[in-house]
Amino acid sequence: MSAFARAQLTPFALDVAQGFALCGQRKLPPRWFYDDLGSALFEAITYLPEYGLTRADERLLREHASDLAFLTHPISAVAELGSGSGRKTRFVLQAASDGRRQLVYRPIDVSVSALSLCEKELGDISDVRPVREDWLHGLEQVARERNGGPLLLLFLGSSVGNIDRESIPDFLKSIRALLLPGDFFLLGADLVKDTATMISAYNDSLGVTAAFNLNILRRINQELSANFDLRAFEHDARWNARDRRIEMHLVCCREATVRVQALDTDFVFRAGETIWTESSHKFTGQELSDYARAAGFDPVTSWTDAEWPFVEALWRV
Ligand code: AVI
Repeated sequence: MSAFARAQLTPFALDVAQGFALCGQRKLPPRWFYDDLGSALFEAITYLPEYGLTRADERLLREHASDLAFLTHPISAVAELGSGSGRKTRFVLQAASDGRRQLVYRPIDVSVSALSLCEKELGDISDVRPVREDWLHGLEQVARERNGGPLLLLFLGSSVGNIDRESIPDFLKSIRALLLPGDFFLLGADLVKDTATMISAYNDSLGVTAAFNLNILRRINQELSANFDLRAFEHDARWNARDRRIEMHLVCCREATVRVQALDTDFVFRAGETIWTESSHKFTGQELSDYARAAGFDPVTSWTDAEWPFVEALWRV
C-alpha cells in the first residue's frame, strides 16, 4: 500500500493493517472491542457469575464511599477515565456531594452511547459534563476547562490492566502531569488470584466473553468491508504466569483467506494461528504502590475486597 493510500486510512483500518501484517504474532488493540454491540456485550460480562471483578469494584465503592469523600474533601469535581455507563460512580458522587451542592462530573469516554447513559443515570445527583475523547486527550480537556478546588480522578474496573505493562509507568506519569497538587487519583485494579478463577472469568460458560472477543472480527467485516467467517475462529483465554496476565486470542480453526476491502488486501490465516486481542494484567498491592511513587503520587490508602481480590487504591498528587 502506498504512503498516500495509508494516510487516507481511519485509525481502525490502520491498526488492522498493522496488526495483521505478517511479522510474527497477529494482534489487535482491545480498544476496538467497544462499538455499540461490543459495549453492550461488555456490560453483559459484568453481570456474569464468573466475572467477579465489576461486583468487587462496585462493593468497594459502595462500602467505602463515605471514607473516600472524607479523605478527598473538599473536591469540587470528579472526572473518570472510560466511564462506561457510570453505574459504579453513583456511590462516589452521592457521598462526595453530600446533598449540599451539585458536584461537577466529567465522564471521559469514546462511546456516545456510554456518555448519554451516564447523563441519564447520574444527571439527578451531579452536573454531568461529558467529554467524548480517549483517556489522555479527555483529561487534557478537563485540565484546560477546570476551575475551583481539587479534582478526584477515577480509573475504575481494572482498565489499567488492559495497558501493556511496560507502558503503565509512562501512562501514569502522563496522568500525573495533567493533575495539580492536592488532586486525587482513585485506581481500581484486579489482583492476582488462583488461575482457575482468573481463566473462567474470561471464558464464561454462557459464551458471552467469546462473543465479545469475536465481535471485533464482525466489526472489521462491517466497517472495513471484510469477509471473516466468524465460525472459523474460536475464543481462547490463557493465563501467562510470567507476565501475570490473561491473554485473549482468536484461534483460526482452518486456513482462511480474508479479504479486507478497505485495505485492498487479502490476509491468509493459517490453521492454529491466533490473533491476540487483549491482555488483562493482574497486580499485587506492592506493585501498585511502587507505580504510584514512581509516577509522583503519594499512596493515601487502599481497600481490598474480601470476596474477590480486587483493590481500590487512593493516591494524592
Ligand atoms: C475493561 N477491562 C478491564 C476488562 C478486563 O477484564 O480486562 C475487559 C474484558 N475482557 C474480557 N472480559 C472483560
